[in-house]
Amino acid sequence: MKNVAVIGAGTMGNGIAHTFAQSGFKVQLIDISEASLKRGMDTISKNLDRMVAKDKITEADKAETLGNITTYTSIPEGVEYASLVVEAATENIDLKLKIFKQLDEACPEDTILASNTSSISITQIAAATSRPEMVIGMHFMNPVPIMKLVEIIRGYNTSNEVTSTIMDLSKQLGKVPTEVNDYPGFVANRILMPMLNEAIETLYNGVAGVEEIDTVMKLGMAHPMGPLQLADFIGLDICLSILNVMYDGFKNPKYAPCPLLVNMVMAGKLGVKSGEGFYDYSESRKADKVSSQFLK
Ligand SMILES: NC(=O)c1ccc[n+]([C@@H]2O[C@H](COP(=O)([O-])OP(=O)(O)OC[C@H]3O[C@@H](n4cnc5c(N)ncnc54)[C@H](O)[C@@H]3O)[C@@H](O)[C@H]2O)c1
Repeated sequence: MKNVAVIGAGTMGNGIAHTFAQSGFKVQLIDISEASLKRGMDTISKNLDRMVAKDKITEADKAETLGNITTYTSIPEGVEYASLVVEAATENIDLKLKIFKQLDEACPEDTILASNTSSISITQIAAATSRPEMVIGMHFMNPVPIMKLVEIIRGYNTSNEVTSTIMDLSKQLGKVPTEVNDYPGFVANRILMPMLNEAIETLYNGVAGVEEIDTVMKLGMAHPMGPLQLADFIGLDICLSILNVMYDGFKNPKYAPCPLLVNMVMAGKLGVKSGEGFYDYSESRKADKVSSQFLK
């Protein structure tokens, strides 16, 4: 496997492109506009600078990594020679189904199609293609170059061969792949999201304040980041959408999103990305502080 196309140059897409390129793969990074691609490439460059400053890589490694990435605004052009496509576009079911249909038509017939979705059914995405046995979930964690886990999600029809190829490939990236089956929330979010939702519910019930809840979980449970800060970091809209997928998928009230979370999303308080969530990130320095604390 030499050519890997990555769809979406946002938070996850640029991290995925960075990780493959640093491991020597040729990466075709695809987004809808030159502006999004530039933002993605600037982020990769800044993250590589941070690694150079920490002596983890050399300037030559940085140049080689950047040289391995080519950008495209057209899916058919970007995927022409891809052995693998990793889709990391916006979390929207209609958009993902449209992209996978397009990928199925444009990619060579032996190309494996992976999605980085946090919550959408891999089986449903696979059904939009004529190769469901070659569709799989590759759920990287944020920030991708740092986090070791890749949750590998087998759709109902995903073949053993494709699963073992993707498990081996993830190891080549220095990651630890973990195989799970395709049910709402997979494993990571099925366990994480109820905890974040419960932290919000605890705040909503007036049991304690934001800082207090986060301090209890950081110092009491040795979590690197409190649950409310983590929800801000992930994006409150993303947390809400994942909880809704589990609520609908399992028809179980234990996944019902807290009304405070619903209200904050409706009010546009989405966390770090909107400048305000449970914490105030209005000065850009504060948002940086959150990410660098997480990256330590
Ligand atoms: N943010 C996280 O912490 C996180 C963690 C794990 C998985 N995910 C998943 O990763 C995926 C991407 O999330 P993100 O946080 O990077 O989102 P993001 O909003 O930062 O980036 C999405 C990118 O997709 C691009 N895009 C939209 N439509 C496109 C199209 N038709 N073709 C090409 N590019 C298109 C957008 O322009 C944008 O640059 C989602 O499925 C999300 O659920 C996110």
